[in-house]
Amino acid sequence: MTAFPARFLFGSATSSHQVEGGNHHNDWWDWEARPGAIADGERSGDAAGWWAGRAEEDLARAAALGQNAHRMSLEWSRLEPEPGRFDRAAFDRYRAILDAARALGLEVALTLNHFTLPSWAAKLGGWTHPNLPALFEGFADRAARELGDRVALWATLNEPSVLAWMAYAGDRWPPGEKRLPSAFVAMRHMLEAHARGYEAVHRVLPHAEVGLVLNMPWFVPADPSRRLDRVAASLQDWAFSGAMLHALRHGELRFPLSWTRRRAPSLAGRLDWVGLNYYGRFDVRFDPRAAGSAFGRHVQEPTVKTEHNDWGRPSPEGMVAQLERLAALGVPLYVTENGMFDPDDTRRPRYLVEHVEALERAIARGLDVRGYFVWSLVDNFEWAEGWSTPFGLYALDRASGARTPRRSAEVYAAICRAREVPTALRTARAD
Ligand code: BGC
Repeated sequence: MTAFPARFLFGSATSSHQVEGGNHHNDWWDWEARPGAIADGERSGDAAGWWAGRAEEDLARAAALGQNAHRMSLEWSRLEPEPGRFDRAAFDRYRAILDAARALGLEVALTLNHFTLPSWAAKLGGWTHPNLPALFEGFADRAARELGDRVALWATLNEPSVLAWMAYAGDRWPPGEKRLPSAFVAMRHMLEAHARGYEAVHRVLPHAEVGLVLNMPWFVPADPSRRLDRVAASLQDWAFSGAMLHALRHGELRFPLSWTRRRAPSLAGRLDWVGLNYYGRFDVRFDPRAAGSAFGRHVQEPTVKTEHNDWGRPSPEGMVAQLERLAALGVPLYVTENGMFDPDDTRRPRYLVEHVEALERAIARGLDVRGYFVWSLVDNFEWAEGWSTPFGLYALDRASGARTPRRSAEVYAAICRAREVPTALRTARAD
């Protein structure tokens, strides 16, 4: 008998800017134009063509693979091109996409904001500006009114800590401030935005389920017997996960190596579910020269290398460990992203099987996990990596727009159809 509950969601995930194409009015569009901003020198351009009409056919592909859900996001810059002015045609386009999903039997998990800001909000200073949470609340209210009859599962924001580190403490994502204090301010404002967005959606849709999506890599000391490795790993964990978890549990934002404690505005009780985006594990070695990354250096060999980045070493038990931590929040859990970039698709099939097997164990242990979404359905614009790190179940040929299923697509389809890992794919027997 399958470990997964009857209503468990098996899906895949995308985000607006990464697949839509032509998002001229957000902060990323401008950022991509800067020489050297994107690793492969490419731009999002037409992306995967979703806005121009290809969303529906990709969703049909997802349904044909046996998926029963899709996670996607709204592009704030399309829907509110100027503060307080909402675009009716853009809402119509999202209604058409959501209707297509419903007709295909896909339940949609809708993220209100996945990293990109309208250019006008970016000009104010992005998430460092004190008005951003209220502006986000206005957007959330409107989105709930316009789309609420089509969506039950809402997320406010995607990965606040990743955005804070990459864009405000770091300089690889817009606005690239490179100021640690800005990251703390941005994080505080994003938590406030979550609370306000939660309230806004619930005012319009009392029965909606509104959550927040966190990215929680598994940071472990490279040598567990070395105290400094342990300290560096736990500082990195705090920066990504610990600060958010603490804020959601105790309504207080605290930062490592500082006595700063800020009341996080009214978070208590404002979470109906929580999403885990999980890619892998990082082995952290203390390094006094690595002050910018909490005195920790990652020493594991990346599975597949890129110039700047890697997503850690595959480690399904890390996903279970993070789900266990999240369970302390007392709300249902979803794995809202899990996947790997693997251009040849030689490792991804096994990665997916191992993570779904781990999920079976987590559920058997009593964790209330209600859905699993592979990142991603189709190759898409991977932020500062451009198009160099394909994550899709479907490969995208950008010149022709052709989609080709990778072996991973078939493997995941077999899981979705059986609603468990079929015996022939189980890792004990896998190739
Ligand atoms: C983000 C996605 C991104 C993926 C792979 C996640 O952190 O939510 O937008 O494409 O990781 O890097």
